[in-house]
Formats: sequence, C-alpha cells, structure tokens
Amino acid sequence: MTDPTAPEAPPEGHDATTEGDRDAALGQAPVRALYGDEGSAPRAIRSADLTYNDYLKVEELLSLQVPQSDPPHHDEMLFIIIHQAYELWFKLILHELERAIAFMNDVRPLRARHFVNRVVEIMRLLVQQIHIVETMQPIDFLYFRDHLMPASGFQSVQFREFEFAAGLKDPRYCTFFDNRPDLRARLEARLAADDLRTAWSRMMRAAGLDVPLAADDPAQRDRPEVHDAAVAGILPIFERPDDHMPLYLLNESLIALDEYLALWREHHVRVVARVIGWRPGTGGSSGVDYLKSTASKRAFPELWAVRTSLQRDERSGGLSAGGTGGGCPMGY
Ligand code: HEM
Repeated sequence: MTDPTAPEAPPEGHDATTEGDRDAALGQAPVRALYGDEGSAPRAIRSADLTYNDYLKVEELLSLQVPQSDPPHHDEMLFIIIHQAYELWFKLILHELERAIAFMNDVRPLRARHFVNRVVEIMRLLVQQIHIVETMQPIDFLYFRDHLMPASGFQSVQFREFEFAAGLKDPRYCTFFDNRPDLRARLEARLAADDLRTAWSRMMRAAGLDVPLAADDPAQRDRPEVHDAAVAGILPIFERPDDHMPLYLLNESLIALDEYLALWREHHVRVVARVIGWRPGTGGSSGVDYLKSTASKRAFPELWAVRTSLQRDERSGGLSAGGTGGGCPMGY
C-alpha cells in the first residue's frame, strides 16, 4: 500500500510547470486589455502576440456551426450549439476521470475526490442544460429533424467513452462506429483501459477492506455473490465513517457522479418525450422506451446497495456511528 504520509505528488503525466504556464497565458488577454501598453503589463505576460481569440481559437470555434437545413431553420443553431457544448464538457469529463483513476491507483482518495467532484459539478450543469432544447416548439424541430437522419446521440463517441470510463462497459455499443474505424478504435481502447469502477474496487482492497478480487473484473462483478461480498467489504466505511473519512468522502462523491449521470438520463428522456413524443429515434432505436431502459444503469451498484445493508449500532448512541478516529488507513 502507498505510504499515506508521502507528499501528494501528482500521478505520472502531470506537468505542473506546463499547467502553470498555461494558466499564466490564459490570464494574459484580459490583463493586456486593461493595461493597454506593454510597459505597465505585469510579468506574467510573455508572448507579445497572444490574444484571447488566438489562445481560445474563437474564430475556428464559431465557424463550426453548419446547419443542414436549407434555408437554415432558425432553431437548428440551438440544436447544433447545445450538442457541441455537451461534447466540449464530455471532453473535460474524460480528462478529469483519467486523473481521478490515476490517483485512485495511487491510493490517494482525497486527491481522486477532488477530480470526481469537478465532474459532479459539470454533470450538475449538464442535467440543467438539456432543458434549453425544450424552448423549441415540437413543430419547429420536425421542420429540420429529417435533415439530421441518420445522425444520432448513439454516435457520440465521447458519451460512450464517459460510460466506459465510469465502468459501464457494454461492447455492443462499439458497433455504432462500424463506419468510422478511427472512432471505433478509440472506443475499443477505452473499453480496454482502466475504469473508475475497477480502480475503486482495487483501491478499497489496497486500503485494507475485504473486497473480492472478482469485483475488479467487469465480466464477474455483477454476479450476485461478487456484488454481495463487495457490499459487505465496504460496509465498515459506512458503519463507521469517522474511521474511514477519506474513503467515505470519495465514495460519496462517486455516488453523486452516478446519481447525476442517472439524472441526466432521466431529464434527457423527459425532454425527448416532450419534443418528439414516442417517435422512433434518428439512430433507429424505439426512442423514449429505449432511453427509459437505460435509466437504471449504475456504475457503482455497491454504493447504492450498502445503504440497505446498514444497521444501527445501539451502543454508539448514534454519535458519528461510534467512530474512534484511530482506524483510518489513510490519515490525510
Ligand atoms: C430535441 C432534443 C433531443 C432529442 C429529440 C433526442 C432524441 C434522442 C433519441 C430518440 C435517442 C435514442 C437513440 C436514437 O434512436 O437516436 C437519443 C440518444 C442520445 N442522445 Fe439525444 N435527443 C435530444 C437532445 C440531446 C442532447 C442535447 C444531447 C447532448 C449530448 C443528447 C445526447 C444523446 C446521447 C448521448 C444519446 C445516447 C444515449 C444512450 O444510448 O444511452 N441528446 N436522443
């Protein structure tokens, strides 16, 4: 197990200097705008030419909204931009999950939690954001929907990567990318890569909890006996949170992530029902009924089940479940 007293070095691939430079560059444009002339600009400004528009590639970004309808339907702009905004956030989510997985592999629950919490905040936004499309009149959507066929949310490689990175790995979804071998290869790489759920069960064991090895294996972990053993293994964290506070806090962030992903599915399916009713999807699914069937997916079923297994410890009188504060395997 990793030495819990060691300084919290970033996992491999993290280059603090580069990040610092990038932050400085980001701060540059507004500062230049405020001060105007070179002489009064603070030291952080290094490149004389870099501007807000150059750095963020704003012109390129604003040239990427190309309607299919001709003449362009007014609402198609909304439809394109909302999907593009989601794709940008999905990109960041994947970036953050990779970091969280690396810290979990280093048995650093609080550092991992920092990045999981960021994803939870993004998800909170994404759950709200879906409702913007409800400002479209259903009849207006019908006027340009046919132009989108057969494009579909099924082909969002990043959404599927997000599911896979969380641990919801269903290889059948790879077939939606048969006509794009590059994207299929990318998704298959994510299928083979480490995921949050596997990193989690490994970390629980590394922290001394009795979570079975089979819980690390996507092919075995949903077997009832493996699931039950994993739930029993993590029970002490929830019975005595004070004794396992870093693990407890991480687990609460992970269940929040699972909750917000499920909430996104719920909100999306309601929005879909409101806009297109029970029409089939452009990707060929039954539409609302298919989407409803996905709403029960959970990346961390053990974290949901453990609530049911909890029993009160009457001797503790309910005060922090009688935690001693002395048994935490990671004292930071
Ligand atoms: C008018 C708005 C929308 C409608 C009518 C709609 C409709 C649908 C339908 C019917 C499906 C099922 C797959 C199919 O047969 O095509 C689907 C899947 C999906 N949609 Fe949407 N959608 C809308 C907005 C959005 C937005 C804004 C996003 C943001 C990224 C999104 C992301 C997805 C994703 C990721 C899937 C795959 C879900 C899964 O397989 O679990 N959709 N959508």
